[in-house]
Amino acid sequence: MSETKIAPSLLAADFGNLQRDIELVNKSEADWHHIDIMDGLFVPNISYGMPVVKTIAQYATKPLDVHLMIVDPDRYIKTFAELGATNLTVHYEACTHLHRTIQAIKAEGMKAGVALNPHTNILLLEDVIKDIDVVLVMSVNPGFGGQSFIENTYEKVRALRELITNKKSKALIEIDGGVTSKNAKNLVKAGADVLVAGSFVFKSDDPTATIKELKESADQ
Ligand code: DX5
Ligand code: ZN
Repeated sequence: MSETKIAPSLLAADFGNLQRDIELVNKSEADWHHIDIMDGLFVPNISYGMPVVKTIAQYATKPLDVHLMIVDPDRYIKTFAELGATNLTVHYEACTHLHRTIQAIKAEGMKAGVALNPHTNILLLEDVIKDIDVVLVMSVNPGFGGQSFIENTYEKVRALRELITNKKSKALIEIDGGVTSKNAKNLVKAGADVLVAGSFVFKSDDPTATIKELKESADQ
């Protein structure tokens, strides 16, 4: 089995030292920079916008994994492509014409991700799973960092892994919310390929060592 990818979420970074925290991720064993965009409508919080993403892109050396928690994400597909996003993930719950949105993301040269809220059943992706590059399973309700992990996620990931195998899809399974070195291994056992971690990494005393610890506990 291939190595689990770790995507530190910059939402929990120190914005007064953003360049420092991005460079820390660059030099660490992390695989992607996870970038959370919230609009105060789809989720009850606003994170940061284009000027900040532009700064992140300027310093980041790893793929940019952009997670859009916004209504009507089609409006910004082109903008995020121009900003340098590698993966662009939209929420299932925010897309009326999901198939079209996925195609539009790919047409801009990005990998297409679809995120599922904790209440959204994985079977709703059955008809598009072959078109998706990443399925992001929310293991907390989106909108805030530092929440506790929802235990039902394991069952959901197992069912999603089965769907991906049955449909011969190449989609990666990404887990977002409340990830720590305590649940990393079980998430990978259930079928996860990518683990996002915000607070666990950036609120620790040594984020570089924590990223390493996360990677090791995922693959042990
Ligand atoms: C939450 C965001 C997450 C968040 C994770 O809505 O999508 O990416 O930063 O933070 P932690 O790891 O602290 O739960
Ligand atoms: Zn996220």
